[in-house]
Amino acid sequence: MARVLILGGTAEAAELAARLAGDDRLETVTSLAGLTRLPNRPAGQVRQGGFGGPHGLAALLKEEGYGALVDATHPFAAQIAHHAAEAAEAAGIPRLKLVRPPFERKEDIRFVPVASMEEASAAIPSGARVFLAAGRRELAPFAARKDIWCLLRMIEPPAPGEVLPPGELVLGRPAADPETEMELLQTHRIDHLVSKDSGGRAGAKIEAARRLGLPVILIERPPVPPGDSAGTVDECIVWLERTLFRAREEIGRV
Ligand SMILES: NC(=O)c1ccc[n+]([C@@H]2O[C@H](COP(=O)([O-])OP(=O)(O)OC[C@H]3O[C@@H](n4cnc5c(N)ncnc54)[C@H](OP(=O)(O)O)[C@@H]3O)[C@@H](O)[C@H]2O)c1
Repeated sequence: MARVLILGGTAEAAELAARLAGDDRLETVTSLAGLTRLPNRPAGQVRQGGFGGPHGLAALLKEEGYGALVDATHPFAAQIAHHAAEAAEAAGIPRLKLVRPPFERKEDIRFVPVASMEEASAAIPSGARVFLAAGRRELAPFAARKDIWCLLRMIEPPAPGEVLPPGELVLGRPAADPETEMELLQTHRIDHLVSKDSGGRAGAKIEAARRLGLPVILIERPPVPPGDSAGTVDECIVWLERTLFRAREEIGRV
């Protein structure tokens, strides 16, 4: 039986584990960093916590006899992506980066591309009312700005004692439909958005900004290590099929 290690923490990783569950030719283990509470436990086996760097991950890949590594971590989780590439090479097993496509660059969206949270903060004009979708470790550059007002949406509550930017905090995940996101932006009289180029479900807020004509300060993705990649779970399953079995029959419920 082939073993597949899925580096998770994303909707795509959970979808992949669910699609592969029940295929008796393979077993999956989803690895979670353990930082974020997930809405549902992924299908298959689950492990939690860091590996102790690329050497730790390479050792685990070898000791536990994995046949393939799917790095389905978030597009901004740059460190684990590089560790995965190094570890898979050291262990001599195939690796695929499963990463959802970036937001579509529609012509009528006023994107302001920036390279970091610091640059994003610097790009906000004084007096702006900003919608800021950010992680709990990304707030410091915005907290330093006392001349802006932020509607802060976070999945996890901020750490105790963490200094927040002036404004209001809502806890929750992105809405799937632009109408809900538009209502949130309008209710709080938002005039600027700050977002990572996460892609996927978070696209509803970008569409909401487009419809309202709001500028989007967009933090661009860090580079991914070279190697095989897929933009969808379907493509990933085709890759696994080819890599593990080199056979024609389909796996999972493609
Ligand atoms: N960054 C984001 O915006 C974001 C958003 C949503 C979800 N996430 C998820 O949250 C996790 C952590 O993100 P991050 O930005 O802190 O990553 P990171 O900076 O790239 O990784 C930091 C360290 O966390 C450990 N780690 C990360 N992902 C892991 C996984 N799936 N399984 C086991 N260990 C993992 C590794 O520790 P060792 O070196 O000890 O192995 C890694 O070196 C990722 O799995 C990612 O998919 C991140």
